[in-house]
Amino acid sequence: MSVRLRLALQEERAAALGERVRRLLGPFTGSEVALDAGSGTGSLAFALAPHVGQVVAVDSRADYLNAGREVAPENARFVEGDATALPFGYATFDIAGCLRVLHHVRRPELAVSELVRVTRPGGRVFIADQLGSVDPLRSLEMDRFERLRDPTHQRLLPDADIHGFLDANDLVLVTHEVTRERVDLEQRLELAEAPEEERARVRGLAPGSVFEIEVGWYVARKPGP
Ligand SMILES: C[S@@+](CC[C@H](N)C(=O)[O-])C[C@H]1O[C@@H](n2cnc3c(N)ncnc32)[C@H](O)[C@@H]1O
Repeated sequence: MSVRLRLALQEERAAALGERVRRLLGPFTGSEVALDAGSGTGSLAFALAPHVGQVVAVDSRADYLNAGREVAPENARFVEGDATALPFGYATFDIAGCLRVLHHVRRPELAVSELVRVTRPGGRVFIADQLGSVDPLRSLEMDRFERLRDPTHQRLLPDADIHGFLDANDLVLVTHEVTRERVDLEQRLELAEAPEEERARVRGLAPGSVFEIEVGWYVARKPGP
């Protein structure tokens, strides 16, 4: 996805995300150190920044990080790194999260266990991602469509898989909600600046010109003091 598209999407979603982060993760002390893993240009980091002392955004793409740095608030730092092998020690953060990242990672369970490792005992792990269907064939169709639209797509995880990752890491679920979002296919293709030939193939696989996706939001606590 182009940096231009990433920034446009970030801008489009900023107000709603800011409100949701405040509601799901607040109240804040104002001194928290937070992590946005798989930050892209920094959507989650920007939503957290007004509430915390410091936020670190990590992504494997230097171009996204550079674009985020240019417009970042003072308390946000951008670091190149792998979400499945984070360049931070045990218990570095009060809050560690990832937004719309797990479906881009071949081994999402590693990304979750890394979020847990770098979170202090008593701290919180935040995960939000587009969900896969409970019907595996339907999920497969969506994955084919999403991969055509964005070749870095790996696999949409059903809600049960994300709960499984939280359980496997002994996390205690604090808040969970599922929202529905409307996707306008032509707007997305336009923003992606996809060539006409590619647009035709994506249209052929899309569930419709306007369709709904489900997004799961999870806040879990790492046991400890
Ligand atoms: C759909 S984008 C989401 C970006 C951002 N979190 C947001 O919601 O705007 C997925 C991001 O995950 C990053 N990513 C994928 N695999 C990664 C990995 N193993 N380590 C770090 N970043 C990764 C991609 O570079 C991309 O920026």
